[in-house]
Parts: sequence; C-alpha cells; structure tokens
Amino acid sequence: MTTNRTFTMIKPDAVQNGHIGSILAKITESGFKIIAMKYTRLSKETAGQFYAIHKERPFFGELVDYMSSGPIVAAILEKNDAVAGFRKLIGATDPTKAEPGTIRALYAKSIAANAIHGSDSDANAAIEGDFFFSMLERF
Ligand code: RTP
Ligand code: MG
Repeated sequence: MTTNRTFTMIKPDAVQNGHIGSILAKITESGFKIIAMKYTRLSKETAGQFYAIHKERPFFGELVDYMSSGPIVAAILEKNDAVAGFRKLIGATDPTKAEPGTIRALYAKSIAANAIHGSDSDANAAIEGDFFFSMLERF
C-alpha cells in the first residue's frame, strides 16, 4: 500500500551547523506537508534500535555514536509518492555523489554526517514514524 508519507530526521551535524530552518524551507517549498515534528535527541540505545537494520554493517558503531551525538529534528511528511520524491530531494548517501541542489549536496559534511535521513520504503516510513510519534502527535 502506498501511503504518500515518509519519515525524516535532520541529523546532528545539520542541527549543530544551524541548517534546520533552511532544510525545513526546502522541504516545504518542495510540496511536502508536515504531519508531525519534534526536536529531540536519541540515546545510543534508541539510535541502535532505530538503525537495527544496519547492525551487521562495519559502520554501525560509528553511526550510533554520531546519531546520538546531539539533537535532531524528526518529522513525518506527506506528498504524492513521498518516499521516492523525498529521496530525490535529499540526494545520494555520499554527499560528493549527490546531485547539485539536493539537501545533502548543500548541507552534508561526509558520508557519515550526511545532514538528513529519508525512509527507503513505505513500510519503513510507517515503522520509523511509529518509532517517534504517537497517534496524538500527528496532524
Ligand atoms: P538514511 O537511511 O540515513 O536516509 O541514509 P541512506 O538510506 O542514504 O543510507 P543507508 O545505507 O541507509 O545508511 C544509513 C546511514 O549510515 C551512515 N553510513 N555511513 N561510513 C560509512 O560508510 C557509512 N555508510 C552509511 C550514513 O549516515 C547513512 O545515511
Ligand atoms: Mg537508509
């Protein structure tokens, strides 16, 4: 089922470097509606749970340390074909390979500190949104 929703996090490097406002502007100017949003911080434990799918990858420890290193902005977004459209807006995982004008090309520092997360499927968008938000927090 296509829900037209995706989930995002503005990652610690982008928050630390003052890019929350610019990134949210780019997201809303691109036609995404904000359904839920919060400013929060992951612990090592919750970052590990969120990225459990990458547990066996060599970069897992680095990823958990980095994602728990400072506050983030988590949000559920809505637009037609949201998952694919948002992945296009954020650009490739490695910012040196991201299309010019994408959020990662503009704001990411490295493959690890790459400014923003976007869900990779409708199923994961629902799981990730549920991880951060209760029913009462969605508009
Ligand atoms: P994300 O899930 O955060 O939207 O990123 P993605 O789909 O583009 O990339 P994914 O393969 O899901 O990797 C998740 C995050 O792990 C970090 N990473 N580090 N050091 C490395 O080689 C490496 N590779 C991936 C990145 O922060 C990536 O976004
Ligand atoms: Mg991913």
